[in-house]
Amino acid sequence: MTNREVSQLVDTSDEWITQRTGIRERRIAAEGQFTSDLGLRAAKAALSDSGMTVDDIDVIILATATPDNTFPASAVTIQEALGMRHGAAFDVQAVCSGFLYALSTADSMIRSGQARRLLVIGAETFSRILDWTDRTTCVLFGDGAGAVVLSGEPQPGSRTDRGVLSAHLRSDGRFKEKLFVDGGPSSTGTVGQLRMEGREVFKHAVTMISDVIEDTFQATGFTAADIDWFVPHQANVRIIDATAKKLDIPLEKVIRTVDRHGNTSAASIPLALWEASSDGRIQRGDLLLLESMGGGFTWGAALLRW
Ligand code: UT7
Repeated sequence: MTNREVSQLVDTSDEWITQRTGIRERRIAAEGQFTSDLGLRAAKAALSDSGMTVDDIDVIILATATPDNTFPASAVTIQEALGMRHGAAFDVQAVCSGFLYALSTADSMIRSGQARRLLVIGAETFSRILDWTDRTTCVLFGDGAGAVVLSGEPQPGSRTDRGVLSAHLRSDGRFKEKLFVDGGPSSTGTVGQLRMEGREVFKHAVTMISDVIEDTFQATGFTAADIDWFVPHQANVRIIDATAKKLDIPLEKVIRTVDRHGNTSAASIPLALWEASSDGRIQRGDLLLLESMGGGFTWGAALLRW
């Protein structure tokens, strides 16, 4: 759906959306196509890229704020569709930070010995929870999914170790009304629609993101100069560029997909990883910095070697 198409629904323009957000178009799931359908396709692509089958996977973690149903977790729908009869599957809900929360959970399960290989998926159908009469929100979001396979392998304990090197998660519920959905099973018995004070989110974003990124540098000894690719959550190109500037990361090292995907919440980072690894930018051994910030507020960052 292009900006021009959105401007046929609400009083907005391609110029406003492009200048304020960097978004030019977003993807909308087809009627009858659910979050689990998008997640399933991403999961199959990730398995195929990694040369593994579902038999190799112990656990599926799906990051989503837009599950097919209140329960069961959409992860079990994907588990069933993949023909996986063993292990466990569950959803993680941290809105736009969901993928980092899921990645960190998966990494911890590997480090504790609870699982060896995990499928981590981010999938969303935000188009279903948007108020398509509210121009301050409906222009911003899109649908999509991405996935990665994490595999526990012994590493030498050097600066070239691969995998998740350090992940840091944060939340602060005092901000929960800045970005939320005004319905739910326990409150209204309805699904509800997304509400956001965009300027308030914007105001906090760069500082919160930069702070948690500093934690990853402190924990690992790496600095911004060591980063090969910065893969941020794709909400607004102005937030992405301001964060890169603050960290002194050149724009050539920043993966940006927001122009074509819009904000796909928990799917945005794995979608960006997919794009930049498929087109050959991200190579095995590259050092990646991931970050996100969203509803809750929740935010987080991770350093990983691909
Ligand atoms: O995933 C994480 C969660 N989300 C985010 O990170 C989003 C964070 N926030 C943002 O990206 C930005 O705040 C927005 C893109 C949402 C808005 O950009 P802004 O530069 O902060 O604009 P604003 O909210 O200050 O609004 C500026 C003007 C207002 O008009 P007045 O009051 O100046 O007359 C709005 O009514 O733009 C108006 N406006 C629009 N005009 C055309 C708001 N939405 C639209 C629109 N089209 N879609």
